[in-house]
Amino acid sequence: MTEPSPSSSRAPEAATVQEWLRQQAQQNLLRFITCGSVDDGKSTLIGRLLWESQQVFDDQFSTLQADSRRHGTQGQEIDFALLVDGLAAEREQGITIDVAYRYFATPHRRFIVADTPGHEQYTRNMITGASTADAAVLLVDARQGVLTQTRRHAHLIALVGIRKVILAVNKMDLVAYDQEAFEAIVAEFHRLAKPLGFDNITAIPLSALQGENITRRCARTPWYQGPTLMGCLETLNIDPPCQSQVVFPVQWVNRPNDSFRGFSGTLASGCLTVGDQLRVTSSGQTAALARIVTADGDLQSAQAGYAITVVLDREVDASRGDIIGLADQPLEMSDQFEATLVWMHDEPGLMGRAYDMKLANQWASTTITSLKYRIDVNTQAHESCRQLVQNDIATINLALSRPLVFAPYEKNHTLGGFILVDKFTHATVAAGMIRHNLRRAQNVHRQALSITRADRERLNGHAGKVIWFTGLSGSGKSTLANALEKELHAQGKRTYIMDGDNVRLGLNKDLGFTDADRVENIRRVAEVARLMMDAGLIVMTAFISPFRAEREMARELIGSDNFIEVFMSTPLEVCEQRDPKGLYKKARSGLIPNMTGINSPYEAPVAADSVVISTDFALDEATQSIIRLL
Ligand code: ADX
Repeated sequence: MTEPSPSSSRAPEAATVQEWLRQQAQQNLLRFITCGSVDDGKSTLIGRLLWESQQVFDDQFSTLQADSRRHGTQGQEIDFALLVDGLAAEREQGITIDVAYRYFATPHRRFIVADTPGHEQYTRNMITGASTADAAVLLVDARQGVLTQTRRHAHLIALVGIRKVILAVNKMDLVAYDQEAFEAIVAEFHRLAKPLGFDNITAIPLSALQGENITRRCARTPWYQGPTLMGCLETLNIDPPCQSQVVFPVQWVNRPNDSFRGFSGTLASGCLTVGDQLRVTSSGQTAALARIVTADGDLQSAQAGYAITVVLDREVDASRGDIIGLADQPLEMSDQFEATLVWMHDEPGLMGRAYDMKLANQWASTTITSLKYRIDVNTQAHESCRQLVQNDIATINLALSRPLVFAPYEKNHTLGGFILVDKFTHATVAAGMIRHNLRRAQNVHRQALSITRADRERLNGHAGKVIWFTGLSGSGKSTLANALEKELHAQGKRTYIMDGDNVRLGLNKDLGFTDADRVENIRRVAEVARLMMDAGLIVMTAFISPFRAEREMARELIGSDNFIEVFMSTPLEVCEQRDPKGLYKKARSGLIPNMTGINSPYEAPVAADSVVISTDFALDEATQSIIRLL
């Protein structure tokens, strides 16, 4: 959710595109999004706008066209990815976002229109298209009026911070250019838009097919005094982006030789001038801006959207992922937020599961700590929910593994917009907007204690460890953990077993067996195991722990060096034959809805990470092989 900028992976074009963008800034660029379905005549409308402005394509545009052919990814099409960065990370991760950016211009203005088709994945496409838009054209079929879909679109537009809306009431020819029909739709739209906080709604009666009120005023709507669609787009006032806050995310450290050291990136917001006092947010180090270097030579000052290399007057530590701001306007950092999240993936979003978060150029591991409510965009109602499914929009709390530089999305789209990425598949699963910082995290600080884990381990005569057993119910986790504990105990080691059934009778008695509850089960177990390890114990955990993501979370939390994953690879058929608690039989007869292996998944470990103990193990042998690993 950044300003359009040449992406770093396309460096060869940077100079040309940069130059082009610079001219756009001077020559008045409007980015807008169109919403509505094919039936509303969206394609016709876009086609019409392109067609009616076609005569005024100029040299600059031809250059871009030529560049796109040479460097672009779109074949003969213009590669607007060169211009519109949007959620660049999504593209890097190979997720297809179905947004077409089209370009047109009139003598008064240039336009980039994001066309976001798609039904199923509409939310994802729209969020992507809208994240860089200044305005939205919402299409309504004059015969149909305001539909559920209109409400949904209006809500999404408001969500990504678009404040200017053009309500295009299309197909007026099919209602005989009836004033009353038009006005009824407008009144209805104003009612639904009231809570959404738009500051400008222009309603236009038009016919895309017949070209009425597009650029030519329609003779059959004498009762309409407002602008044509093109006239409206040309004159719509766009608020200059909030210029006050300098945000310069460091993309890479540019050090071609010993005598030059600069930080390269795209200035995300604000204006930089040589001589400014700068601050690296994470370390707090400050220095003066000595030079602004670009492909076209040095600049005295740079604005948002410029790809620059800054050279400072003294050495400071900054690397990829750091954010530089003005020294006297420090940027905020936090590791807990309230945010609005749009879930984009068909795998559900679960509380407690760890995802990777990308905010500007910063990465951290994050978990959803609370699902406050999901929003029904049709009724605006807040609904409680246990997990997020595709297209859900929800208000949530997030906890991060480390503090990141941020700003509320409302104030700064670069520092307020983020994506969540699956740790295994690297798919982008959600896009989010920070609402505000949660103070909670700020007033809690780690307390230094006198006796350390090392002291306790010295007293015990051995190191603390976590041995994490995973496998189906009945695969032998508890049996082996028990044998292992007996052996270790006999050797004078301090041990403890955390067992699924036992923990579920106490600490986790509020949890069941849905995916969400299993994630939370394992999160708590991992936290407790870590505390026990810190106390100096050898902890054995015997939980099905069916999901790779949570086992990985446990490994990260506990530390790879302290963590031994043991996979009981007993096949389902064998477990089912043993059926020590009769659960498989019950599940087969439909009495247990989420039985692991039957109607709830088990994700086996990736072999290299764990010790595999197979079905026919001899208890002794298996015990000894784990002890050797200790
Ligand atoms: S986990 O999936 O969240 O890791 P955990 O190991 O705590 O599960 O609990 C599994 C134990 O709960 C099983 O050994 C079994 O005795 C019992 N159980 C009851 N219902 C289920 C179910 N639907 N699926 C799996 N185990 C169940």
